Amino acid sequence: MANPVFVAIDTTDLAEAKARAKQLAGAVGGIKLGLEFFIAQGPEGIRAVLQESPGLPLFLDLKLHDIPNTVAGGVRSASALKPRYLTIHTAGGAAMLRAAADEAAKFGVARPKLLGVTVLTSLSSDDLVEVGFAKRAMGDQVEAMARLAKANGLDGVICSPHEVATLRRAMGPDFVLMVPGVRPSWAGADDQKRVMTPAEAMRAGATHLVIGRPILKAADPAEAARRIAQEIAGAPAAA
Ligand code: C5P
Repeated sequence: MANPVFVAIDTTDLAEAKARAKQLAGAVGGIKLGLEFFIAQGPEGIRAVLQESPGLPLFLDLKLHDIPNTVAGGVRSASALKPRYLTIHTAGGAAMLRAAADEAAKFGVARPKLLGVTVLTSLSSDDLVEVGFAKRAMGDQVEAMARLAKANGLDGVICSPHEVATLRRAMGPDFVLMVPGVRPSWAGADDQKRVMTPAEAMRAGATHLVIGRPILKAADPAEAARRIAQEIAGAPAAA
């Protein structure tokens, strides 16, 4: 099994991001860079980081959300960086999702796979009502948005450990479920509230995991990443 862990390099600092990519290149399955880094360092910064980890897939977490034509343009520009995964807010609606998927398809086999953001885990049901959503159970809202994503050509969604098993059942075997908020039992929870271990999340149906601090803050980050990969593969963890 390929290593499913994308390490979240959450920094604005180019030298630090490059050093992390180099340090972890052999121990993780991919690299996640998001808004914090992209706004500070731009496409050139992304390219510079990827050069330190040749061949590792990029998860570009830009969470695009705008009118369909603008999001399609964003997908086109982002595709120049050849990300394996790119995020879009499903709240942008069916036409926006479809425009993004159609644009991505133009890049053929090298196209970025598009992942929908359903409901940000920072939002409660009451927060959703406040911005005009109907009152409904959070799980139902998340599932409805995942179905909207799939119906309009997206390849998967980002989801919390809490939602993985339900979404795997609802969305079928081929849907990508990229899961942040996991914690190895030997790491602290940081500010993540609903945690599962990496192996538990994979067993529940995740295809990929996004892990930041348990790797980056470890005394030996590459060793921590390898240990996580071993635990997922079911091998006894190295001491
Ligand atoms: O350090 P940690 O493992 O918590 O990092 C997880 C990564 O996943 C961060 O980049 C964070 O922004 C992202 N994320 C998350 N929880 C969500 C969505 C994204 O932790 N609900």
